[in-house]
Amino acid sequence: MAGATSSRWPLAVLKAWHAVLAGGFLVAYLTADEDTYAMHQFAGYLVLVAIVLRLAFGVLASGESPLRLPRPSWRRMKEWVATRKGRHPLFAWFAASLLAVVGLAALLGALADGASWLEDPHEAVAEASLWVIGAHIAFVTYMYAGRKWMARIGARLSSAPRETLR
Ligand code: HEM
Ligand code: HEM
Repeated sequence: MAGATSSRWPLAVLKAWHAVLAGGFLVAYLTADEDTYAMHQFAGYLVLVAIVLRLAFGVLASGESPLRLPRPSWRRMKEWVATRKGRHPLFAWFAASLLAVVGLAALLGALADGASWLEDPHEAVAEASLWVIGAHIAFVTYMYAGRKWMARIGARLSSAPRETLR
């Protein structure tokens, strides 16, 4: 029991971290205006700290820990396309891309605080990250809910009595 509980904590930490990251990003994005700059700064730095902590924990995490950093691989992708076995490789690709693009957006924001010529690159990366996040949400929604929903519809259709057309 104690073992099960202790092995669950990295997952709980990851979920809490994800909530802080997603919430921080949302607030930073919605307050990216001169009138709400203090809030933008606070939420933006929160996102930056969250990413730095994730990278630090990821580097220190042991082999099987859920806190290990995602490792996207083309070889794994090719294997999966051929066999369709195992975890979908896009999970790792999305996780790594999100950490990179959201981290870069926050880092450029922090640098733009002192170097105003970085404001445009900061804005461009922040806008680009929104597209990656949109694709991420669509992907996880499909993988965790959409596939089950489609399988249920498929099962219902195949068990329905077949009508004769005469
Ligand atoms: C409603 C919105 C969201 C939902 C439902 C969602 C859902 C998820 C889920 C289920 C995972 C785990 C995927 C897996 O099984 O490996 C995940 C991972 C991740 N999400 Fe989201 N997410 C959302 C918004 C966001 C936002 C706004 C960001 C960025 C600001 C984000 C960044 C990430 C990252 C970086 C990971 C990988 C975590 C890691 O392993 O390091 N997500 N998300
Ligand atoms: C991932 C987190 C962040 C996101 C999503 C984000 C998003 C944005 C966006 C979309 C803009 C353009 C606003 C506009 O001109 O319409 C902006 C501007 C700006 N952001 Fe961020 N930002 C983030 C983090 C940060 C951080 C950490 C700082 C550091 C203080 C920062 C400082 C700035 C500055 C100085 C501007 C220019 C403000 C202006 O044009 O008046 N941002 N941000």
